[in-house]
Amino acid sequence: MKIIDGKAISMAIREEIAAEVAEMKEKPGLAVVIVGDDPASKVYVRNKHKACEDTGIYSEVHELPADTSQEKLLSLIDKLNADEKINGILVQLPLPKGLSEDEVIARIDPKKDVDAFSASNVGHIMLGDPVFLPCTPAGVMELLKRSGIEVKGKNCVVVGRSNIVGKPMAMLLLKADGTVTICHSKTRNLAEITAKADILVVAIGRAKFITADMVSEGAVVIDVGMNRDENNKLCGDVDFASVSEKASYITPVPGGVGPMTITMLLKNTITAFRLQRGELQ
Ligand code: GUN
Repeated sequence: MKIIDGKAISMAIREEIAAEVAEMKEKPGLAVVIVGDDPASKVYVRNKHKACEDTGIYSEVHELPADTSQEKLLSLIDKLNADEKINGILVQLPLPKGLSEDEVIARIDPKKDVDAFSASNVGHIMLGDPVFLPCTPAGVMELLKRSGIEVKGKNCVVVGRSNIVGKPMAMLLLKADGTVTICHSKTRNLAEITAKADILVVAIGRAKFITADMVSEGAVVIDVGMNRDENNKLCGDVDFASVSEKASYITPVPGGVGPMTITMLLKNTITAFRLQRGELQ
């Protein structure tokens, strides 16, 4: 069994990104917007800002109080859409209750939508010709590629159907010629389906949900989960202790998919910069 070291792979890619940015006369810029004080979101936003600083990408963080009105948030998006220093805009989700995520996402200029959450960017992903790659799924694909794992013809099972991970993950695996099944909380005989996976990607947000009996010998297991276990320790959606005995490759939590998501965001910010300068079609 091999542990896929997402931290090391991500650092190697960040070095490539830093070298690319160092060559650029003007630097790409990212605006991150956080509303309220969800502790997990705050950590993610801090890590995104730090990753930008480390690679030479300009970044600004806009922290708004939890009681911010929809109008105020939308007017900040308008301002960032018009700001030439800013190539990418990311609004950290989830938003506090009472704010419409759909409306906020729809307001971001699709050319600055580095999360690839807007309808047009999701459409491009669905058509198999993405402008921006969805960050977490793209991070998973990069982990597979850099670990020498081929997707073509493999049985790929995605557990979870969120707009952020499950759905776009299925599209990227399909584009890579995988045979893709999407499972979710209403799936019958889930364990029978996951046990047929050559590549199993889990993003359901339930601590240690996937146990060894649900995984076939030699499977590649990618854990997108980020939960707290009974001892308040970070853990994934996969029971690492037992599943790692059967898997050929497995990602740990933390240090697996997480760092890759941010690395792919940096790549998208560079893509946004080039797109806005007419360097890409
Ligand atoms: N919340 C959890 N994951 C993400 C992500 O990839 N982007 C944003 N904007 N919010 C998130």
